Amino acid sequence: GKNQKNILITGGAGFIGSHVVRRFVQSYQNYHIYNLDALTYAGNLENLKDIESAPNYTFLKGDITDAFFVETLFLELKFEGVIHLAAESHVDRSITDPLSFVKTNILGTVNLLNASLSIYKEKPKFLFYHISTDEVYGSLGIDGHFTEDTPYSPNSPYSASKASSDHFVRAYGETYGLPFVISNCSNNYGPNQFPEKLIPLFINNIIQDKPLPLYGDGNYTRDWLYVEDHAMAMDLIFHQARIGETYNIGGFNEWKNIDLARLLCRLMDKKLDRKAGASEKLITFVKDRPGHDVRYAIDAGKINKELGWKPSVTFQEGLEKTIDWYLVNHEWLDHVTSGDYKEYYKTQYQS
Ligand code: NAD
Ligand code: DAU
Repeated sequence: GKNQKNILITGGAGFIGSHVVRRFVQSYQNYHIYNLDALTYAGNLENLKDIESAPNYTFLKGDITDAFFVETLFLELKFEGVIHLAAESHVDRSITDPLSFVKTNILGTVNLLNASLSIYKEKPKFLFYHISTDEVYGSLGIDGHFTEDTPYSPNSPYSASKASSDHFVRAYGETYGLPFVISNCSNNYGPNQFPEKLIPLFINNIIQDKPLPLYGDGNYTRDWLYVEDHAMAMDLIFHQARIGETYNIGGFNEWKNIDLARLLCRLMDKKLDRKAGASEKLITFVKDRPGHDVRYAIDAGKINKELGWKPSVTFQEGLEKTIDWYLVNHEWLDHVTSGDYKEYYKTQYQS
């Protein structure tokens, strides 16, 4: 409609992006949401079936590494805001194929920034909102938390590519005056997450009675956040954040992988009516991930103080919702684990 603002969300067919697209399409009738996604292995339009015919929503298949395509799209649709999630997102894949991370995460981001420069002056409230990760800060020991002032120290090709993209966004703000905001979030979990990431991989493997590969000694620590709480934080940041700022987002919810695996096993035993301890037998220690970051933990004090955000879902509730979703949506799992996935999985774990 002519009174609607055009908003671009990139990577909206992926895990987090699909929750953000749904939230924005349903909450903001005054926006027309354009979801730009290349539909790589990680992109899946099944994630958005329930809103695909909403009048304020349009899916666009396209690749952010194609500079001409991106530029043309911005000149045509004159976006008032960009929420950029499209990325290669899996650390293990970045170890075997770093260049595709350079292309999508760095080159793709710079293409979006350049296209934004062509239009942002016509739109007084233009905002480029870049979605990033806590992994840019590197690894913590037993103590301490990442704050917005923690120096960047990425250890994987994935986090190096995300760190680089964050720097480009800031640099476009400083150099060209592009209005931007960045958020760096901890590990997300929830419905629609591709079963290469720890939680959906283990849920799927428990359902199938397959080994649960724990890297190294299993004492690595992550801070887990329910995906819809991340989407809620993004909504607040997009609408209320101070321009040119960075916000850390986290779950106040640290778990060692081994403890998380045991918790998942206990919950799954109950859901599947299996004997207590049945799933835990599947835990298998395998070769460690090279460059494996020991611990991530976010200090989310800034977004809490400035924007009043805090997680709304407890870990127990979030995990139950997630497990229930995968059990009900077994067709979704069947679709994404056929074909290419089988080839990928073969290249993964060595005990
Ligand atoms: P995902 O892998 O599930 O989804 C990525 C989406 O981007 C897919 O739909 C894919 O098709 C699309 N895409 C990939 N390359 C593209 C290209 N060249 N052009 C257009 N589209 C392309 O990822 P996710 O876990 O939902 O992560 C989304 C964003 O959030 C990423 O930027 C990631 O770095 C960041 N992030 C993720 C987490 C997490 O725990 N998953 C935490 C913090 C930040
Ligand atoms: O911190 C935010 C990041 O979280 C995001 O930026 C990334 O996009 C996202 O993939 C995630 O990265 P991690 O490497 O932390 O997530 P992953 O699910 O791959 O692994 C979580 C932990 O579990 C990590 O310590 C490695 C370990 N692991 C993972 C897999 C897939 C295992 O022990 N076994 C496994 O099979």
